[in-house]
Amino acid sequence: MNDHTDYTVSIHYDRRLYRQDIAGSKAHAAMLAKQGIITQDDADRIIAGLGKVQDEIERGDFPWDPALEDLHMNIERRLTDLIGPAGARLHTGRSRNDQIALDMRLYTRQAIADAVAALRDVQRALTQLAERHSNVVMPGYTHLQRAQPVLFAHHMLAYFEMFQRDIGRFTDCAARMDVLPLGSGALAGVPYPTDRHAVADTLEFSEISPNSMDAVADRDFLAEFHAAAAITMMHVSRLSEEIVIWSSREFDFVRLADEFTTGSSIMPQKRNPDFAEIARGKTGRVYGSLMGILTVLKGLPLTYNRDLQEDKEGFFDTVDTLLSTLRVFADMLPGMTLNTERLESLASESYMLATDLADYLVGKGVPFREAHGVMRRLCQHCEAEGKSLSELPLDEYLKFSPHFDDDVYAITAAASVAARDNPGGTAPNRVAEGLARAKQILQE
Ligand code: ARG
Repeated sequence: MNDHTDYTVSIHYDRRLYRQDIAGSKAHAAMLAKQGIITQDDADRIIAGLGKVQDEIERGDFPWDPALEDLHMNIERRLTDLIGPAGARLHTGRSRNDQIALDMRLYTRQAIADAVAALRDVQRALTQLAERHSNVVMPGYTHLQRAQPVLFAHHMLAYFEMFQRDIGRFTDCAARMDVLPLGSGALAGVPYPTDRHAVADTLEFSEISPNSMDAVADRDFLAEFHAAAAITMMHVSRLSEEIVIWSSREFDFVRLADEFTTGSSIMPQKRNPDFAEIARGKTGRVYGSLMGILTVLKGLPLTYNRDLQEDKEGFFDTVDTLLSTLRVFADMLPGMTLNTERLESLASESYMLATDLADYLVGKGVPFREAHGVMRRLCQHCEAEGKSLSELPLDEYLKFSPHFDDDVYAITAAASVAARDNPGGTAPNRVAEGLARAKQILQE
């Protein structure tokens, strides 16, 4: 004993795994009895005792003892206090190394289910926004320069697709980690006639790990979870950035519900988009935890090393950050209102239609590259004259190309959008297809 015993203690954070730990222990005890490794009587006592332990934890009167270091030792000690020597037989054919590997997988499996459900709620909110404003035209941007008119719904459904890929990444992670590590012992396997498949069935794993050394050393599933969470947060952060700039006076595209803005303590006119800003900021800590787990793992020799205990705090933080952020967005997005008038008037601003005018000339037989040059010169001319393209009389158009005609004035934002009518484009019927696809996915 030295003065630094708290250095190795993990009970203040690993107690969060108590449900997983107890479920794993119950499945293990039942299997030990079925295989004749312990008596059925002992197994019954262990299972009932673990139920009591769980009740105590949930009631808040479990005697957590930091001197016992971690969750596993705390639960086992309490079990033995409650039921006597049978409690001491629970750890037969098991090590804390395969036990913690199991607990973390069970916890991650639940976290993935929660993340997917929360992502679905965000997708639902985006779909509702898209549907509610299905005809609103807005400026689409490249380089944060107004580029071409698009439907607001198209913009929302772009995020739907990002979150759809995120769900795919979490689902892939769940499928790859669907392997029971218990039964690997400390590293080499166990010298008892255990039935690993029975435990896998009870705990709903599809497979058992094929290599005991890998099973106790592997935290790939955590690295994958962190990576999927980091990419999801990156998407949320991009959406946050748009919400922040869209709700500025300069853009003035959207207004967030009052409950998702805050005033300034000294500037009474402010409506700060704090939730979006905090989400953008929290993305940083999620990236940090991804780097954390990769770094913990990179130099470890096989098999279990105590460094692995450092997999937990960053992971729990990422789970909490991810879920709370997604839940905020699922609630915040539906209350966002649009400044439709402004969006449509900016989308109709004539320079936004320059590409369409070039395409118009192409329609009259002018090669695209040439048409592009004509329009560039026309835009420069209008800019110098302080005029919009729509104000320019036809005789001036004709100075730039003989192919212009009266119908040049028929090109509007609505016509521009409607013209982008191939798969994936922003034409209303294509966006309707995107919306139908989104609703179909949400129904599955
Ligand atoms: N608290 C440990 C962890 O989180 C549990 C496993 C400890 N195993 C050991 N041999 N000390 O990794």
